[in-house]
Amino acid sequence: MPDDNSFPFVLKVCSDYHKVWEGQGVHGLVYKMGFDSDVFGNTLLRFYDECSGVNDADKVFDKTSERYSFLVNLLINFLILTDSLSATCHFSVPDQFRSKSKIFRGKNFDQAMVTRTIDLRSDTVTKPTETMRLAMAKAEVDDDVLIYDPTARHLETEMARITGKEAALFVPSGTMGNLISVLVHCEIRGSEVILGNNSHIHIYENGGISTIGGVHPRPVKNNEDGTMDINLIESAIRNPDFEICYPKTRLICLENSHANSGGRVLSVDYTDQVGELAKKHNLKLHIDGARIFNASVALGVPVHRLVQAADSVSVCLSKGLGAPVGSVIVGTKSFIDRARILRKTLGGGMRQVGILCAAALVALQENVGKLGNDHKNAKTLAEGLNKIKGLKADVASVETNIVYFEILEGSNITALKLGKILEEHGILLMPDSSSRVRIVIHHQVSASDVQYTLSCIKQAMTGVENGGN
Ligand SMILES: Cc1ncc(COP(=O)(O)O)c(C=O)c1O
Repeated sequence: MPDDNSFPFVLKVCSDYHKVWEGQGVHGLVYKMGFDSDVFGNTLLRFYDECSGVNDADKVFDKTSERYSFLVNLLINFLILTDSLSATCHFSVPDQFRSKSKIFRGKNFDQAMVTRTIDLRSDTVTKPTETMRLAMAKAEVDDDVLIYDPTARHLETEMARITGKEAALFVPSGTMGNLISVLVHCEIRGSEVILGNNSHIHIYENGGISTIGGVHPRPVKNNEDGTMDINLIESAIRNPDFEICYPKTRLICLENSHANSGGRVLSVDYTDQVGELAKKHNLKLHIDGARIFNASVALGVPVHRLVQAADSVSVCLSKGLGAPVGSVIVGTKSFIDRARILRKTLGGGMRQVGILCAAALVALQENVGKLGNDHKNAKTLAEGLNKIKGLKADVASVETNIVYFEILEGSNITALKLGKILEEHGILLMPDSSSRVRIVIHHQVSASDVQYTLSCIKQAMTGVENGGN
């Protein structure tokens, strides 16, 4: 296991701070301090270059130099002046500074230690922004079970408009959104739904459509791009002539983007074809659109067009969009009327839910425009990972915000171990198996974070190669 010094971006500032910075570059210092700002990083870099006359930012500082202590001083003063230490590396603060800063005042050293975390486990981990919190605090609310909550109405109207459907309903989660949708389309017990064998509904939703809804799943093989072959879907539709034995097919489910396929997107053309097939056989089409905005941005197609063929769509607000809680289902007015009753049955009728919907409205306004950037960061990450010895990422398959990468055989490290090493450097990711890792980018991961992550992964892989782990 390498010690702290073998990683490039370790900062320790403590009472004898002029001695203790163990980092090796200004960028690292800035990442670790969590300013999440290239501007600040670049300013410091320029400052460093100008002061020291050294252009290579990754050169080790001469810790005895005046410039070095001046820079460390500058940073500490920056923290104190801004009082904006939302996140940073482990550090302790000298007494004389502690008393001046709101952040540190009254805290002992241990409490003053804050850790900046780059959380790549999922896009569900985002924290509500200040604007969301403000909107939540000021939200107009009323009893939503009685359909009086104005902010919930506002969100639902907006979501119906964006998706091009008649009506919408706020639900507590994507899982409940899918369950309610399947149950509305398959009200008669023993109905059958055709869905992907690698779909979220089939794998990760506790089999709720069967255990709660009495709906029988008919899984069809998902291709690597998240599609199911149209001819396979068609041949999975039950022949009504043999209803003495067969359950009745009532619904087809698609997932866009397709999470387990690494966020691959289903095209308009493909979705329309499945819609046509559903119509031909008098079936309904539901789309698990937990990340439909990611798909829409990646394809450059408006959401309403992408889901035009669907009878219902479940859209997560708490994934790429970055709202803290909730999903919305959309469909015809009669579908939503029925869904509202089922939501109550399932315990998902909530009262002053406008508090949550207010944050979702901010997410729609502020975060849809950031998804393209998330996709760019995901691509950069995949490209960088692919260049690291012992790792493989399929760059071409990174279409949205999800990146899977493999640890190649003979690399002498497991995904779990890699995760543990990175955690010590403030990076969280999700091992998918012993040799596969999943990373999900969201709006609270910056381009700098991606570079820092790549740098730490590279260092960890070099460490194992040299027998260090
Ligand atoms: C594709 C997909 N559908 C549905 C869900 C369920 O959403 P929730 O976690 O809000 O229940 C998820 C959650 O990750 C998902 O990735």
